Amino acid sequence: MSNADLVELAKRRGYFFQSAGAYGGVSGFYTYGPQGATLKQNVENSWRERFQIREGHREIDAPTVMPEPVFEASGHLDTFDDMLVECPECGESHRADHLIEDNTDIEEAESIPISEVEDLIAEHDLQCPSCGTELGGVPVEDFNLMFETNIGPGSSSPGYLRPETAQGIFVEFPQLAEYARNQLPFGITQIGKAYRNEISPRKSIVRVREFTQAELEHFIDPTEDEPELERVADVELKLYPADEQEKDDGEYVYKTVREAVEEGLVHEWVAYYLGVGKQWYESIGVDMDRFRFRQHLSGELAHYAADCWDAEAEVGGDWIEITGYAYRSDYDLSKHDEYSDDDFTVFKQYDEPKVVERATVDPDMSYLGPEFGGQAGEVADALETLAERDRTAFDGDEVTVEVDGEEHAIPTEKTGFGVEEVKETGEHVMPHVVEPSIGIDRVLYTVLDHAYEDDVIEGEERSYLALEPEVAPTFVGVFPLVNKEGMDDRAREIADDLRAEGLDVTYDDSGSIGRRYRRQDEVGTPFCVTVDDETADTVTLRERDSTEQVRVAIEDLPDLLTDLREG
Ligand code: GAP
Repeated sequence: MSNADLVELAKRRGYFFQSAGAYGGVSGFYTYGPQGATLKQNVENSWRERFQIREGHREIDAPTVMPEPVFEASGHLDTFDDMLVECPECGESHRADHLIEDNTDIEEAESIPISEVEDLIAEHDLQCPSCGTELGGVPVEDFNLMFETNIGPGSSSPGYLRPETAQGIFVEFPQLAEYARNQLPFGITQIGKAYRNEISPRKSIVRVREFTQAELEHFIDPTEDEPELERVADVELKLYPADEQEKDDGEYVYKTVREAVEEGLVHEWVAYYLGVGKQWYESIGVDMDRFRFRQHLSGELAHYAADCWDAEAEVGGDWIEITGYAYRSDYDLSKHDEYSDDDFTVFKQYDEPKVVERATVDPDMSYLGPEFGGQAGEVADALETLAERDRTAFDGDEVTVEVDGEEHAIPTEKTGFGVEEVKETGEHVMPHVVEPSIGIDRVLYTVLDHAYEDDVIEGEERSYLALEPEVAPTFVGVFPLVNKEGMDDRAREIADDLRAEGLDVTYDDSGSIGRRYRRQDEVGTPFCVTVDDETADTVTLRERDSTEQVRVAIEDLPDLLTDLREG
């Protein structure tokens, strides 16, 4: 299905449409309509069930605006950039890597350095997509994707809309670790809005400026914790490793989760979540024939990631990333530990206290004072840090430390270096993080695209959305065959009874019964109930995909439909 067709259907049937259309619309912002908002909630709830409740994790809800120091520490201020080229003629901005991917056979141009991107634009005579001007020779620049704001009046306290929900979890780690009683591993989830000032939003809700992420940050002790692999060990993964992508005739590699780990193809924690993820995508209706896990090429990795696999779905002939499964190591927590005043480690208690050797220094301040003046304290601190890190530095006659970029040699005898035995009850551990980061909007797009079907029923063409009952926003349509002889009253009563059971019901009595079925087919409603005049206590129940109808007692409907909803 093309993007244009999907957008048209989504608008017509209340799934999503460009927001603020009355004012011309703003690129990169979409509103979910009545069907779309419920589909989104159903997908989010199903995600919660699979990634959070079943895994024993807890959810938090952090602010979307965060102060500048958070993003200085996280690296987003310096490195969260895309490559921008501005047309000198019409002033339109474009993503340089997209320009290359769209007009050459080069893939993943995001990982190519800027200077080479400029050369490629010139080499391929690439033109501005808006006005056709040649862009060869036009400079390509880094453009930071974060939306900046001011917190409170004035400009003294800059803030940013979060570009990923994850930072809201990382900055609260000290409180969360305390809540988890310093026991690793533990996982924290969050669903919420993230914002990126995309240079070129595209493909409706696939690349937008405001979107919803469902993220899990699983904190582990890398030296001890292992995933419970057997829970997903036999799940088959269709993998596209980086080395296969680099070959001309690169191929998919099919492995179970267990094999992928045993053969060292995927990090064990990442593999565990690829297994969980595959089960989940399948359950919500992603077509597994149009799905794969692709490993990031080394130049493509985000600044925080040691390894990353994307879940990708094929839509409209293109592969899109719907989730990133990143091994973030201790990157984020170490940075917040370094930049903030708080402690981002957990204290791991030993079963029994351990006697350990500890290096100590006791510098001779009567030597350091006259020698280094106001810097003596910093030199003493540097000696202490060095002793903790590298005792061998104290083996010779002199020890060299660096203070404010300047090296100082100090006679070892003046450092008071020694080694003592101490009893330790535990140690500080900097947790590592494994992160499945799901883009809910892209998952919705994929679910709608993969659900789209057309066929011919009794000589008439129809199109329908074969949505899984678990996520379908309207679960059952209730109709009177005709709007008289009490059929409408009975149908309304049935609709009310089904709503009382917690089912999403739509009542419709306008137009021919055939038109009403077609309408619900296109919305993706799995079942329709029609009240007719055959008997007073039965109705017909129609299934969307097969269009088969069976006669059912009205009193059995609530239980029957509830069972069908739960699968
Ligand atoms: N915390 C990790 C992170 O944010 P990411 O790969 O940049 O990683 C995760 O984003 C997911 O968010 C992506 O897989 C994608 O589904 C979604 N996403 C990212 N940018 C998006 C955008 N501009 N519009 C819609 N979804 C987006």
